Amino acid sequence: MSVSVKDVALAASVSVGTVSNVLNRPEKVSPATVERVHTAIAELGFVRNDAARQLRAGRSRSIGLVVLDVGNPFFAEIARGAEERAAEENMTVLLGNSDERQDREHAYLDLFREQRVNGVLVSPTTEDLSSLERLRDGGVPVILVDRETSDEGFGSVAVDDIEGGFLAVGHLLEGGCRRVAFLAGPMGIRQVRDRLEGARRAVAQHPDAVLEVIEVPALTVLHGREAGQIIAGRAPADRPDGVFAANDLLAVGALQAFAIMGDIAVPDDIALIGYDDIDFASATVVPLSSIRQPAHLIGYSAADLLLKDLAQPDGDHERAVRFQPELVVRESTRRPR
Ligand code: RIB
Repeated sequence: MSVSVKDVALAASVSVGTVSNVLNRPEKVSPATVERVHTAIAELGFVRNDAARQLRAGRSRSIGLVVLDVGNPFFAEIARGAEERAAEENMTVLLGNSDERQDREHAYLDLFREQRVNGVLVSPTTEDLSSLERLRDGGVPVILVDRETSDEGFGSVAVDDIEGGFLAVGHLLEGGCRRVAFLAGPMGIRQVRDRLEGARRAVAQHPDAVLEVIEVPALTVLHGREAGQIIAGRAPADRPDGVFAANDLLAVGALQAFAIMGDIAVPDDIALIGYDDIDFASATVVPLSSIRQPAHLIGYSAADLLLKDLAQPDGDHERAVRFQPELVVRESTRRPR
């Protein structure tokens, strides 16, 4: 039975990511840990899987990309950006849609491994990155897209979603809202949890403000509409006066519900803000305020980081790229002072 990176990590009492760093970027690891890992490698007789790296020469001219929801224009823009950077190196992008399901994500990771892609870009469905660690330790570089990580074995390109949530709810509070509802997607998605954390930090600065969380099963227009119907079905005094939707699709659905279902005027009765600033946000019947993420640049940068990892596995290039969110104000939150 061959000795794995995990065996070495266990023997040296470090993470698999640290073993990967000792092998690829020892300068990032303390000398004592480097020595401990090398001792474990020697004692266990671990042989680095360089075959996977050598086979890279025979790999396809493709990169794998797994997004959470291919129907969301945000991820379509990410794919465009990744494709643009890959095409500059005469490479192609194989696109997979996990639909926010871990089993689908795993199926695409297996497919990309079989297809011998040069590397994988992925927006993970959960906090469990073990399948991505196995892919990486098998010699396939992995870049997390739209997600940060403390594991230095992964490159990452993301936006500060805590700051984004803080900006969104801070804007509602500045406009006079005091009963804010957060339309949340599945809490297993880090982006949703970080936006909620930012929302909570904004509300904490206003003792007279309250935050309600309305969880929905997925970040789609349909679920946004259902959440909007719940709000519209309440007595006016029980409704929020401001809604922060975890993404623009949820906000569009809520807007539809308010327009069709209830006697709710946006922004006068309920101010509404989304997240992503997809092209459609500015075209809704009440143009939507949103928190803009540079989706195309995120995709381009993720592919660029992967290509740098492929060209210089031990390079000293920055491997945790973080962009700042931007508040875009439109009619859906412009309220008379
Ligand atoms: O897929 C969930 C959301 O997270 C997307 O709308 C986008 O905002 C991503 O960051």
